[in-house]
Amino acid sequence: MGFIDSIKAKAKADKQTIVLPESMDKRTFAAAEQILKEDLANLVIIGTPEEIATNGAGFDLTGATIVDPFNDPNKQKYIDKFVELRSKKGVTPEIAKEQMEKDYMYYACLMVKCGDADGAVSGACHSTGNTIRPALQLLKTKPGISSVSGFFLMEVPNCDLGENGLFVFADCAVNTDLDSEKLAEIAALSAESFETFVGKQAKVAMLSYSSKGSAKHDDVTKVADAVAIAHEKYPNVLLDGELQLDAALVKEVGELKAPGSAVAGQANTLVFPSLEAGNIGYKLVQRLAKAEAYGPVLQGLSMPVNDLSRGCYAEDIVGTVALTAVQAQNAKASK
Ligand code: ACO
Repeated sequence: MGFIDSIKAKAKADKQTIVLPESMDKRTFAAAEQILKEDLANLVIIGTPEEIATNGAGFDLTGATIVDPFNDPNKQKYIDKFVELRSKKGVTPEIAKEQMEKDYMYYACLMVKCGDADGAVSGACHSTGNTIRPALQLLKTKPGISSVSGFFLMEVPNCDLGENGLFVFADCAVNTDLDSEKLAEIAALSAESFETFVGKQAKVAMLSYSSKGSAKHDDVTKVADAVAIAHEKYPNVLLDGELQLDAALVKEVGELKAPGSAVAGQANTLVFPSLEAGNIGYKLVQRLAKAEAYGPVLQGLSMPVNDLSRGCYAEDIVGTVALTAVQAQNAKASK
């Protein structure tokens, strides 16, 4: 069974309610039809009757719950919650209502916050920033976590590195200001994400252009410090660094550049030193190695919300909904 089929099987085994706010895009409806047909999740679609009629025409949406953001009996509850959460930031009932009607992602996050949905997926026609900002503002991080980050689950064809070609790459999507503390936290969250989705022990490499002090620079020190912090704060995570990519992945190179390391040469979870490196790195592997790149999946949020690429296909939305449903199952199990 391929990676995404195994995630779909998990999603199906304990169906979660996922909200899709992008009724302005036909791909949402094509994905919804497939999700309902495959019975992967209970779906809520946010949209006006006009949006549903225009963009959902011809798709079988039997079983989906449609929420009209201008005419929803629960709307006042969501406005009240929005004001409760953001009044200190100047959000009044009028601003809340306007924001929810203008940007359905706010509506979706409030449904999740109020327990009327287990997760949300958006981003087919919104930028990453606009997709995740409502989640950061309304759902916030899990207790004890300082930053939300974004990983890709990479499935590289015909590859015997990592876990038979499966990897987690992070942070590829969110944090523009990575310091050693954040890198250490991302390492721990990424290890948990790998283990949740792949079901095998994570071996985390903290990447750099230096292996074990082979180069000296503040950039290298940042990663080496992150390794020390991670060893101290997360002693159960199998992690090493700083490592160059080849030392992290290739056995012979790992033995040469980091002898005795329990991670070098066998890493399956790659933590990049900056957002530039992570974002460019995943796209290189996706395009040159023709890898599947599932994500960005957000980690560290109190409840699951996930982003899509604006170039995504309906099939990608289906996969992201299944991943989000599995995160929702785990969030409930860990409560
Ligand atoms: N984790 C947790 N909370 C966060 C984080 C984070 N990483 N970043 C911001 N926040 C919180 C802030 O504390 C703030 O909370 P508050 O309003 O309650 O005080 C709220 O989110 C908004 O923060 P701002 O800094 O005002 O929001 P801003 O929009 O400037 O930044 C964002 C957040 C959108 C994530 C920004 O960091 C960003 O744009 N990152 C890069 C996204 C991107 O372009 N990625 C690359 C493309 S993705 C791809 O290729 C797949």
